[in-house]
Amino acid sequence: MLFDPYRRKINYLRISVTDRCNLRCRYCMPEQGLPLTPHEEVLTYEEILRIVRVFTKEGISKIRLTGGEPLVRKGIVDFLSRLSEIEEIRDLSLTTNGLLLKDYAVDLKRAGLKRINISLDTLNREKFSMITRRNGYENVWQGIEEAMKVSLSPIKINMVAIKGFNDDEIESFALLTLHHPLIVRYIEYMPSGEEWKEGNIVTIPEIKSRLEEMGKLTAIPSDEWDGPARRFRFEGAIGEIGLIGPVSDHFCEACNRLRLTPDGKIRTCLFSDDEIDVKGFLRNGGSDEDLRKQLLVALNTKPERHHINTHQFKKCQRNMSAIGG
Ligand code: GTP
Ligand code: 5AD
Ligand code: SF4
Repeated sequence: MLFDPYRRKINYLRISVTDRCNLRCRYCMPEQGLPLTPHEEVLTYEEILRIVRVFTKEGISKIRLTGGEPLVRKGIVDFLSRLSEIEEIRDLSLTTNGLLLKDYAVDLKRAGLKRINISLDTLNREKFSMITRRNGYENVWQGIEEAMKVSLSPIKINMVAIKGFNDDEIESFALLTLHHPLIVRYIEYMPSGEEWKEGNIVTIPEIKSRLEEMGKLTAIPSDEWDGPARRFRFEGAIGEIGLIGPVSDHFCEACNRLRLTPDGKIRTCLFSDDEIDVKGFLRNGGSDEDLRKQLLVALNTKPERHHINTHQFKKCQRNMSAIGG
């Protein structure tokens, strides 16, 4: 098992397989996109598999693929099926914007994916185009329907709540949980991208009290595999509500994660720019023991918490799209 200096058990690796994306969400990327990591600097699937094999021997047992948009990377299904053969991985998942999901759902399921998280911030087609700067609302919905059809489960919908943009849709998202097997998760808007303003955060306590006006919300105890979301359910609902409050209720004391960037660096915190190189070792004949040592360096430099709410806070240098949220 892996523990950091704050006695947190670290068992979760989020792998950003690409910084490329087929959307341009305003809170994430500028319209013109961002300078992309050149292909030769991006870890190959073989390289990622080697890292995963070493890390899972040490205690990583939960893996998530993120991006950018992971489904735009060629060969992703085959990569997933190779990951799903690694015995030590107890939980394998993927976070997608859903745009390509309709065509991928069945193959992902066959490749061994059990569950999926889908980012969707609005249920309105025009607003979707406004926030993502691209069309495709229908495609995402067809993707969600296909995911339900092939029984990926659970299916979590991530909604970043932004004042003046989608805070009027909090109730409509909640209604989805009554008749669909979906977990709707409200996420506080964290500082990233060019347009972030503190005044646009809708806090989790605000969201919760609005949901409570709709009906009785019962808390669901979380299990050891649950992330930072607090879980709830409306009476009689098939689906669930999840509340994720990285700003108002930072969950750093329970953080169990490390991140791997597309260019082969371990990031120890979403909001820390300290990065530990692994690619250099991979490409210069490093041994598995070297990789293991880098993992331990990362573990030992993991910060105690982020400083979003304090005067020490500065936005991170790397964009969300190359970290994977
Ligand atoms: P589950 O295991 O399915 O609960 O997933 P997850 O919550 O780990 O993953 P997902 O990619 O769906 O992330 C949900 C949201 O939580 C992200 O959009 C981020 O906004 C937020 N989040 C995830 N990890 C961190 C973290 O380490 N720190 C902070 N501050 N926020 C995070
Ligand atoms: N605040 C909160 N969540 C964010 N994500 C990306 N940027 C932000 C932000 N500034 C989320 C996406 C996706 C997840 C991986 O990260 O909506 O669901
Ligand atoms: Fe793409 Fe996700 Fe960033 Fe939107 S939030 S631009 S879907 S990487």
